[in-house]
Amino acid sequence: MKTRAKITVVGAGFVGSTTAQRLAEKELGDIVLHDIVDGIAQGKALDILQSACLEGFDVNVKGTTDPADYSDSDIVVVTSGLPRQPGMSRDDLLMKNYEIVKGVSENIKKYAPNSVVIVVSNPLDVMTYVAAAVTQFPKERVIGMAGVLDSARFRCFIAMELGVSQRDVQAMVLGGHGDDMVPLIRYSTVSGISVDKLIPAKRLEELVVRTRNGGAEIVKLLQKGSAYYAPSSSVVQMVSSIVRGSNRVLPCAAWCTGQYGIKNQFVGVPCRLGSSGVEEIVELELTAAELQQLQSSAAHVAASVEKLGIKA
Ligand code: 2OP
Repeated sequence: MKTRAKITVVGAGFVGSTTAQRLAEKELGDIVLHDIVDGIAQGKALDILQSACLEGFDVNVKGTTDPADYSDSDIVVVTSGLPRQPGMSRDDLLMKNYEIVKGVSENIKKYAPNSVVIVVSNPLDVMTYVAAAVTQFPKERVIGMAGVLDSARFRCFIAMELGVSQRDVQAMVLGGHGDDMVPLIRYSTVSGISVDKLIPAKRLEELVVRTRNGGAEIVKLLQKGSAYYAPSSSVVQMVSSIVRGSNRVLPCAAWCTGQYGIKNQFVGVPCRLGSSGVEEIVELELTAAELQQLQSSAAHVAASVEKLGIKA
């Protein structure tokens, strides 16, 4: 009898290995950490496993170079690909990461045909499309992680501004995970109080800009590589909602079939995440300006997908 979920994390770089660590510490399932470079996934998995007696978790963590180890996975998290360097946009990674995510998706299709796939590689919304096109899985089982991360950054900046607990700040960032993402001020609150009642409009606009540049700010500081603590936490929140069937409403890159006037495309929208993956796309009421921003962000994603000549 399978008593625990099986979660495969593809890519044992900083995002992948931190995700594996967080998943294990929360005991969300048995973890497989895969990388094509021999030794890296095995070494990191063993290191995480050796912390089990100290952290007090009972799940297994296995490192591997063999994609056959994906078999029976309930969830596969795709972190493979090159990270941004200072001065690069996420779109600059398009062609290189396309080849990488395509290969990973072929393995997922072959070895984990019943899994829910969570894509983290950049450019995020386009790579989610690639995973869907290659696997041809039902679209509710292919999801991109980004809105949770972008919203977490916005929440963090609002909390820093007001000197309040981040836990009391709720925020919703929609759109593609790129420079034209759409932080929704009207749906951002501190314990139910709309942030526009607490922060002057001009300052809020600065926080929106900082959120849009949130990933680049960290790339610039690190000089080598990109963020991984908040990205891995964001993945874990999504995995938790799926594994536990908790139906949390989280912004994720999901396949739109007309919602928000967007069709046949992945872009960040509020989703109810449960055991089947995306159970529902929640349609918020948007102003004409917000809708226009969301649709133009979606058009940017569509233009990149177009360059690849693939069909999900
Ligand atoms: C970020 O925003 C890497 O895209 C990721 O940090």
